[in-house]
Amino acid sequence: MLVLGIESSCDETACAVVEDGRKVLSNVVATQIAEHRLYGGVVPEIASRRHSENVLGVAKAALADAGCEIGDIGAVAVTFAPGLIGALLVGVSFAKGLAISCGKPLVPVHHIAGHIASLYLSGPLEPPFLCLVASGGHSLIVEVLNYTEFRVVGRTHDDAAGECFDKAARVLGYPYPGGKFIDEAAKNGDPTAFSLPRPKIPGCPFDFSFSGLKTAVVNLAHNAEQRGESLNKADVAASFQRAVSSVLVEKLMLAAKELGYQKIAVAGGVSANSGVRAAVAEACKMSGRQLFLPDLKFCGDNGAMIASQGYYDFIVGRCAGADLNGRATMSLEELNI
Ligand code: KG4
Ligand code: ZN
Repeated sequence: MLVLGIESSCDETACAVVEDGRKVLSNVVATQIAEHRLYGGVVPEIASRRHSENVLGVAKAALADAGCEIGDIGAVAVTFAPGLIGALLVGVSFAKGLAISCGKPLVPVHHIAGHIASLYLSGPLEPPFLCLVASGGHSLIVEVLNYTEFRVVGRTHDDAAGECFDKAARVLGYPYPGGKFIDEAAKNGDPTAFSLPRPKIPGCPFDFSFSGLKTAVVNLAHNAEQRGESLNKADVAASFQRAVSSVLVEKLMLAAKELGYQKIAVAGGVSANSGVRAAVAEACKMSGRQLFLPDLKFCGDNGAMIASQGYYDFIVGRCAGADLNGRATMSLEELNI
């Protein structure tokens, strides 16, 4: 069965065709990053307008790249939550129009479930497993009970890991989104050069807090500026990346041990980070656990992950009608109801 996946929750207009949830036939992403970079972050109104302009062309390109026509598609899957509401509505409205006019089932997909499904495009992983999802908007530890049911066991109390990467990058003078620039700079830096906080939350062993770490990097940069000293950016990047990676991986491995998981996975934009990948690989090796990581091309937002999750949601009958709406916020666990 071929599923057309449509993603427009933030600043990428993306469409893809995936066969049986696993085989990617096409994956087209129109990114708006260059435009949002001018403002140092995503401007919701601009994002919605660009999605409206691009979505038809991106969908046509995805069908053409896959060598198929809309008649060959078994279902249209679309991200409906969570995300920027105006941006989501463009994808949802387009998917509704397409599905209804072509007589295809319409499958609403949760964005975080989509990130988790990026792992199904990258290897033989099957649930159950424990997954860290770290992106620009989310930092969660999720028990993936089966393809369509989830239990969130860890979450951030303030900023998401990607947001923290982007803020740290900004004070160091890197463009938005700065995660990958920190990653690059860290390769030439000393991760022990600066001692940065690794917050623990009493009573919530699997939860995160990144705001203190973010403030520490901001203060480091401002203090150096006030004293007229030049900061070694590579050393700050490496120390910061080490701090974020160790917090993420420490909590993930603690949850794996306490909840009894042998299969571990990481997904979301931050799963592209080389420090995070190395730290989790080392921890899994040390504890004899099996690790699954998404291919780099599926870490950031894309349509293929939505098509994959859409396939599994379709199989359990999660279809929507013409009344489908976008939702800016929605817990992954609401899907279980
Ligand atoms: O999953 P994603 O594309 O969008 C959301 O759903 O939020 O994640 C984007 C986030 C951004 O914060 C970006 O800086 C971060 O992922 N990111 C990285 C790297 N590549 C992307 N963070 C650290 N290292 C990277 N290599
Ligand atoms: Zn995302």
